[in-house]
Amino acid sequence: MNPFLEGNACVFGVQWGDEGKGKIVDYLAEDAQVVVRYCGGANAGHTVRINGQKYSTHLLPVGIFRPGIMNLIGNGVVLDPEAFFKEVDEFIAKGFPISPDNLRVSYKTHVVMPYHKLEDGARETRTQGSSIGTTRRGIGPAYADKMHRMSAIRVSDLIDASRLKAKLEQIATDRSAIFQKVYDLPALDVPKLFLEYRAYGERLKPFVDDTSSILIKANKAGKKILFEGAHAVLLDVDHGTYPYVTSSSCSALGIFTGAGAPPQICRNFIGIMKAYTTRVGGGPFPTEQDNQIGNYIRERGNEYGTTTRRPRRCGWFDAVAVRYSSELCGVTAISLMLLDVLTGLDELKICTRYEMNGKPVDGFRADMGMLADVRPVYETMPGWREDISGVRSFADLPTNARKYVQRLEELIETPIRMVSVAPDREATLMR
Ligand code: GDP
Ligand code: IMO
Ligand code: MG
Repeated sequence: MNPFLEGNACVFGVQWGDEGKGKIVDYLAEDAQVVVRYCGGANAGHTVRINGQKYSTHLLPVGIFRPGIMNLIGNGVVLDPEAFFKEVDEFIAKGFPISPDNLRVSYKTHVVMPYHKLEDGARETRTQGSSIGTTRRGIGPAYADKMHRMSAIRVSDLIDASRLKAKLEQIATDRSAIFQKVYDLPALDVPKLFLEYRAYGERLKPFVDDTSSILIKANKAGKKILFEGAHAVLLDVDHGTYPYVTSSSCSALGIFTGAGAPPQICRNFIGIMKAYTTRVGGGPFPTEQDNQIGNYIRERGNEYGTTTRRPRRCGWFDAVAVRYSSELCGVTAISLMLLDVLTGLDELKICTRYEMNGKPVDGFRADMGMLADVRPVYETMPGWREDISGVRSFADLPTNARKYVQRLEELIETPIRMVSVAPDREATLMR
């Protein structure tokens, strides 16, 4: 059994998302019996490559690609039933059996409604120039309703027709007024929404369960649990580069509320990071390379959004940011991804610290005022020219690639235990 699953494991991003979490969850899932998503919604896009075929999930845990795994969607997720069933149908059609036998959704999970998506889009359009650059999947408005409480719909409401009707009627009054006055959008069509969402509720019913209790029982029975993080520490609503973040607790600190399990349930905190940095959407990005280097990385790394297809912003590795994430979340091991993408660059730069107004800055502050003005200070290392995507042992990497990995490890003060050199399961080197 993979030693990372001894005491269960969480896999989460330590940069701004898209680090390759999907690949590592799928890799580790070989030895897991439960895979659980604990945050976010269909704004995530997790890619796996199996036998040369690429698959992307948004809401479904990556454990659906392996038989014998129970996949859970925890209470911390916001579930868009339309996106959910589209994905379920897509994977069933591709030959992956998905049913309540291998997938359960928490009755506490909040529902993303069509009006959340409309509002997300309308807000983005209205704030063009300073917009967050959201995925327009309704994530922010759905979490806002969760916090507002009386205007939210949970899965337990969705599967109960009379509760759903009463909720929709109650929500529509205020929401319609806001839609018409603020966003110039039509009022909510309650009868239409009710018919459509009652049908989703009926279809969802067999999947709905107490996922928290399933997790706790599975753990007691010695089953191996994998927590599948979405997004990343720097996109976390509290600890990320606020307000340019997503709306959930998507660092490892959010596992226990989002999955509904006690903190002792997980002992391995596996941070996923790229050998460089990317971010999609707005917000500060000190090491961004809006130039030939950024373009080189984008094209070699196919850095286009899994969910929205937007080109991702690319830049050098930022050790200050990752050290912050690693310390905050108690990362026990790092999986370094996409090292192959850097092949062919003569020199590689690593940001080792920040300066502001010519003075050193102490560490990383997830604060716009500071991040927008810092200047990254770089260290330069020699690159390598060899294609490393076929390498299957760390010792066989070119010397400069090994030195680069070792230097990153020193700077982030966290052991790099896995190195990925291609999207496939096999292209994962253990250290
Ligand atoms: P996630 O959101 O963290 O799961 O990451 P995404 O799936 O959005 O983006 C990561 C992309 O990198 C996917 O297309 C993966 O197939 C790909 N990928 C993962 N690991 C590697 C690697 O080591 N090398 C290369 N070239 N691609 C990788
Ligand atoms: P995975 O799990 C990268 C970003 C969006 C936007 C901000 C807010 O695939 O790593 P939202 O729609 O969540 O309100 O958008 O967060 N974002 C991500 N960026 N990877 C993700 O997920 C992301 N999920 C949200 O681009 O800047
Ligand atoms: Mg992604």
